[in-house]
Amino acid sequence: MQDTQTIFASRFLEDVVDGLSARPKTLPCKYFYDELGSDLFEQITKTPEYYPTRTETRLLESLAGDLAALVGPRARLVEYGAGALLKTRILLDAFEAPAAYVPMDVSAAFLQQSASDLSVEYPALEVTPVVGSFLDPDLAIDIPGGPGRALGFFPGSTIGNLDDAEINLFLQKAGEDLGPDGWFLLGVDVNQDPSSLIPAYNDKAGVTAAFNKNILKRIRHELGGSLNLDAFRHEARWNAAQSRMEMHLVSLSDQTISVAGHRFSFREGESIHTENSRKFSLKQIRALARDAGWDVHHLWQSPDDRFAVTLLARDGQMR
Ligand code: TRP
Repeated sequence: MQDTQTIFASRFLEDVVDGLSARPKTLPCKYFYDELGSDLFEQITKTPEYYPTRTETRLLESLAGDLAALVGPRARLVEYGAGALLKTRILLDAFEAPAAYVPMDVSAAFLQQSASDLSVEYPALEVTPVVGSFLDPDLAIDIPGGPGRALGFFPGSTIGNLDDAEINLFLQKAGEDLGPDGWFLLGVDVNQDPSSLIPAYNDKAGVTAAFNKNILKRIRHELGGSLNLDAFRHEARWNAAQSRMEMHLVSLSDQTISVAGHRFSFREGESIHTENSRKFSLKQIRALARDAGWDVHHLWQSPDDRFAVTLLARDGQMR
């Protein structure tokens, strides 16, 4: 554990130095998710403004029976970026005798806790958590063997936090992990309306602001950075041309911060771009899937058409 922590810390520093040296300044969004960040994210999903979790949860509840029939008994479920596992339970409850569950997350303590809670509730299920980033091409994922279907699960529109190249590599690697008969269940935000999107990423209670600033907090605490959290404000912008929500931390003044001997200057109003949350069209999803060797086998949409869940199968393996 000590070694992993040290490796994480030096990668964190490298990523921070690279990101803050870039123009425009950026920081990788996976660093939101330490224990506090994972907790804040759970709180975001419960704010009245953040519709995706609620909408996707209802959609999963309504499609779970049909999905279970398609997937068959003894499914082996692999979840990318596992979180609190509330949606996972909807699938596990619907499936016939699910055999194995492999949750993956960068938030180690949070993952161990939620995985061990789950094992208690599903004693027949083999639960083998993997700590790491699902974007890491070297992350080894061992899916326990068995006769049941391997099913990847990537809910929450987390795919919208990736760029096209990342999506392509990720979906290809998932294809290799899950094998030629593996399927992949993907949740995608397809809302394009800024009047509901902007509040979803800027809730009145300020949870999203605290979540966005958690990355600065970690720079202070884990890298000894000298910076003031109150010298930045959270901003959620709709970028219509790119069809994405953008998360920024905007500097409130001209200032210089320092991290492990590196100094970074900000002009007043200059921002650190911390995250994109892309909103896709169904056509775009099909194209991204196809480019990575997957076909859309099934598509379900929420009654308000803001959210879609798609079941992907390997190209040419639909049956
Ligand atoms: N996958 C989530 C999304 O794109 C993550 C998220 C929700 C998020 N709210 C956020 C990321 C605010 C950064 C800031 O909707």
